[in-house]
Amino acid sequence: MAGTPTKANSKTIAPAKGKLAILTPGMGAVATTLFAGVIAVKKGISKPIGSYTQMGKIRLGKRTENRYSDVNDLVPLAQLNDIVFGGWDIFPENAYEAAAHAKVLEKELLLQVKDELEKIKPMKAVFDREFIKRIDGSNVKTGKNKMDLAEQLRQDIRDFLKNNGCDRAVMVWCASTEVYTPPTAVHKTLKSFEEGLKNNDPAISPSQIYTYAAMKERVPYANGSPNVSVEMPCLQELSLEMATPISGSDFKTGQTLLKTVIAPGLRNRQIGVAGWYSTNILGNRDGEVLDDPGSFKAKEVSKSGVLDDIFSKELYPDLYSNISHVVRINYYPPRGDNKEGWDNIDIFGWLGYPMQIKVNFLCRDSILAAPLVLDLALFSDLASRAGMRGIQEWLSFYYKAPLAKEGLTVEHDLSVQLLKLENTLRFFSGEELINHLGLTHYGVDEGENA
Ligand SMILES: NC(=O)c1ccc[n+]([C@@H]2O[C@H](COP(=O)([O-])OP(=O)(O)OC[C@H]3O[C@@H](n4cnc5c(N)ncnc54)[C@H](O)[C@@H]3O)[C@@H](O)[C@H]2O)c1
Repeated sequence: MAGTPTKANSKTIAPAKGKLAILTPGMGAVATTLFAGVIAVKKGISKPIGSYTQMGKIRLGKRTENRYSDVNDLVPLAQLNDIVFGGWDIFPENAYEAAAHAKVLEKELLLQVKDELEKIKPMKAVFDREFIKRIDGSNVKTGKNKMDLAEQLRQDIRDFLKNNGCDRAVMVWCASTEVYTPPTAVHKTLKSFEEGLKNNDPAISPSQIYTYAAMKERVPYANGSPNVSVEMPCLQELSLEMATPISGSDFKTGQTLLKTVIAPGLRNRQIGVAGWYSTNILGNRDGEVLDDPGSFKAKEVSKSGVLDDIFSKELYPDLYSNISHVVRINYYPPRGDNKEGWDNIDIFGWLGYPMQIKVNFLCRDSILAAPLVLDLALFSDLASRAGMRGIQEWLSFYYKAPLAKEGLTVEHDLSVQLLKLENTLRFFSGEELINHLGLTHYGVDEGENA
């Protein structure tokens, strides 16, 4: 069914015809693990484990119907054979060399996808050392001002589409984490931002220039890092003006993924939390960049917000008003991409009696992140073809820092995020939404929502 026009409840989704370019600012560990992985899957070498678009099933209709669909069959997603990868990086290495440098995948696997990876060469990046302190490279654009750099990125996108015979593109930020930058006056409106681009305003970061360029080309944008870009009011305004989907920031992969499973569970059982100490050791280039306090601050803000929102102390003062939440990331080269995260959670139960939970997660960062990039790219493209503009809350599932419209609370609970995602897919395909009330069995008329 994929690739054919699908009736949504209220609109038609354009078919996924032609090729889709997935463009990544940053061609490091995460991006090259995605590229290599998709090529390996297409060759039948591996399975796309961890990708909901490729492996997910969704229940449809009433429970009594026992009807399930592959996600990929339910909605018209771009297919792996129709994907073309491209990107930008400050280092000139092609994707094979960058993947070898990242040391995420074994040499044996990389050699099997070498020919395809070698063809993916990074375009010159927009880079500013004020925003990323620990690395520097030569494959960088120069321009008379930041608007000029944005125009060059727009031209890159147009050239890429033309040279690769692509119909559409999506952009997923897979570059290093920039220094934390709160919004300033220049970020207030699109007009002030465009003025700032022309005047080289120092508060405008490279990631914001990429976001701007993507949206001006009507290319949906997903932000894999905690850098503040899609959060800026000016860029949200642009996403509406250009009818381009945006969705959130910072892939929810390891420790935070587990937090958004465990924390709602504790809260739903009314278990109190006195403290949550999270520490990590990480030895890849991402870890090196995060060793800089400015970049770490961006990560800390997005990681910390998750627990604040789940354990709303205003709603539950007796349970969560004094949580000591500490997040640490230590750069430790011997581990490479294999991050180890420890969580110590001090909880208290009935009559205030204390208990502890210890989590030790030995994960592989890019192995967890790569399928998220794929899903976000495919769903953002779907949203665009469905005429969805601006913030896509149904993609919160993938982010540490999801976006919600102003005045609305952000949802962090992974299971609620999944319900939202599933119901949006049902909506897209004209299927009934499911509220899990499940009372028909007892003679209650629930209409269609069994
Ligand atoms: N892997 C995970 O589990 C995970 C989870 C959440 C977020 N992230 C974020 O994803 C991003 C990528 O992670 P990674 O492990 O691939 O890092 P990495 O260091 O291996 O790759 C990042 C690449 O971005 C390049 N780069 C830096 N600034 C750039 C710019 N302005 N334009 C173009 N390229 C630029 C670097 O040269 C590098 O090659 C990081 O910001 C990381 O914090 C990763």
